[in-house]
Amino acid sequence: MKKVYVGMSADLVHPGHLNIIKEAARHGEVIVGLLTDAAIASYKRIPFMEFEQRKLVIENIKGISEVVPQETLDYVPNLRKYKPDFVVHGDDWKEGVQRETRAKVIEALAEWGGELIEVPYTKGISSTKLNEALKEIGTTPELRLKSLRRMLQVKSLLRFLDIHNALSGLIVEHASIDTSNGQRQFDGMWGSSLTDSTAKGKPDTEAVDVSARMTTLNEVLEVTTKPIIYDADTGGQTEHFKFTVRTLERLGVSAAIIEDKTGLKKNSLFGNDVPQTQDSIENFCEKIKVGKKAQATDDFMIIARIESLILGKGLDDAFERAKAYLAAGADGIMIHSRKKSPDEIFAFCERYATLPNRKPLVAVPSSYNQVTEKELQDHGVNIVIYANHLLRSAYPAMMDTAKSILTNERSAECDARMLSIKEILELIPGTK
Ligand code: SPV
Ligand code: MG
Repeated sequence: MKKVYVGMSADLVHPGHLNIIKEAARHGEVIVGLLTDAAIASYKRIPFMEFEQRKLVIENIKGISEVVPQETLDYVPNLRKYKPDFVVHGDDWKEGVQRETRAKVIEALAEWGGELIEVPYTKGISSTKLNEALKEIGTTPELRLKSLRRMLQVKSLLRFLDIHNALSGLIVEHASIDTSNGQRQFDGMWGSSLTDSTAKGKPDTEAVDVSARMTTLNEVLEVTTKPIIYDADTGGQTEHFKFTVRTLERLGVSAAIIEDKTGLKKNSLFGNDVPQTQDSIENFCEKIKVGKKAQATDDFMIIARIESLILGKGLDDAFERAKAYLAAGADGIMIHSRKKSPDEIFAFCERYATLPNRKPLVAVPSSYNQVTEKELQDHGVNIVIYANHLLRSAYPAMMDTAKSILTNERSAECDARMLSIKEILELIPGTK
């Protein structure tokens, strides 16, 4: 019996998959190389179903003898291991991001005289189309909430961007570029207190109350599916924080980050230029514990944000606090800095990596913006948050337009740098 290898994600199994399996079975015994969650996440969004669930479905399809994990998008390691006589794949990978993967398959098969069989693409159906349709249906609070923990399991660095209204949420949801490794997108949204407050014309001092912040979240939740990490400022009074946790969880928000400051909160990027008080380790640990106890699910995350570097308290204090906050039950640590260089963040990362109970680490490179995602990842950062960049880019663009109209006493001069009337009418589906 000849050996036939078929690589697939099989998240949403459709007739196109069955067609390929049928063709493969005609040539011999079919081994499906099922891409692991990490392999899928390396080039597109994480699968809806986990590996074991997808495996169960595929194992029960007629014509399949064996399902083995394929750990990378690259087929070659598995091909060398199983040395199949044939690889069967849809012919749609001749173009686009999978071209290189295909070339490598042909090269590897040549090592033992194997052959690539390409099945014509099944018209009218594709995983991409199904994914788009699913996105239109939306998500549930439960699925969205869980998705952050799932992503953390399968991706070494997650990328988040600020939201302050539904439109900014739509940008984070849909912005995408093609790279040689597949699509690159944002993994989720940061519910920034700075940009939400600024968009409401209020100072970032917890002046926008929790109800108003939830209104923004609700607007965003209505039109997006990606996970949200909420900037919960200080979390407020410990006695009040538990209600915020329950509300966030009910909405399907994945995590709250609380910062270890007390009194009238001021934005961290001021550092000691304004009076700011750090909470005691004891009080803050109590707040973490109360928050964790308030959760209804195991999935919601409370991430403790350490302000020691912001307030000039030094690395030892930051590290001491990281240990205490993790011991109190924090699901992750955010370390913040307002330095131009990432050195103090890297120094913290090195100490943090030595902790036996290390949990995900979050960094917000607003001031040290020369740092690359790769450098952060190499230092063990798990989530990078671009905390305010959408609003910071929108405001000058809007102010320029306003000034251009004032200067010219008409709008023709600013027309070229705006969305056209046609584009704005088509921006939100259903407007027509
Ligand atoms: C925010 O985006 O509101 C933050 C990050 O908390 S920072 O503005 O840097 O404090
Ligand atoms: Mg904030």
